[in-house]
Amino acid sequence: MRAPVIITGNESKAETYQRLEKEILAVLDGETHLIARMASIACLLHDAFEHRIWTGFYLVDDAKTGELVVGPYQGTLGCLRIPFGKGVCGAAAQEGVTQIVKNVHDFAGHIACDARSVSEIVVPVFDKDKKLLGVLDIDSDVEGSFDAIDKQALEGLIEKVFAV
Ligand code: SME
Repeated sequence: MRAPVIITGNESKAETYQRLEKEILAVLDGETHLIARMASIACLLHDAFEHRIWTGFYLVDDAKTGELVVGPYQGTLGCLRIPFGKGVCGAAAQEGVTQIVKNVHDFAGHIACDARSVSEIVVPVFDKDKKLLGVLDIDSDVEGSFDAIDKQALEGLIEKVFAV
């Protein structure tokens, strides 16, 4: 039985990510199944911060070229499919670069799966051969939830977990 995540309220965001990364790596130790790894990450990331309305993965669908299909997530119902180049997730998949959107209402082509979504970060997920597996999408109901601290922490975590 793992220890519960304690949110003290005194931690900085960077400290929370440091603690979370240790916990996530410990939870995933020895587990190689992609879905089990993604589901556990979505759960732990979603619960560790306030204002998160959706945390999860979209996967490259090998059966349909140029399309992402929804993977493990926490939150309200997500869109099932997102074409490459569409919305924030599609941009991250197409460009292979993390997207931070301060206010989705200013992002042309944003896909509103949940009308409460205001800001988001989407991090591409690569395997050890630099093949795109999908994207990690985190959505918040307040403006400007994500910054360089989230980017650095999430990119580091995703690399440690999936590019091995
Ligand atoms: N926010 C995403 C769509 C997916 S969901 O919100 C779960 C986007 O514009 O890419």
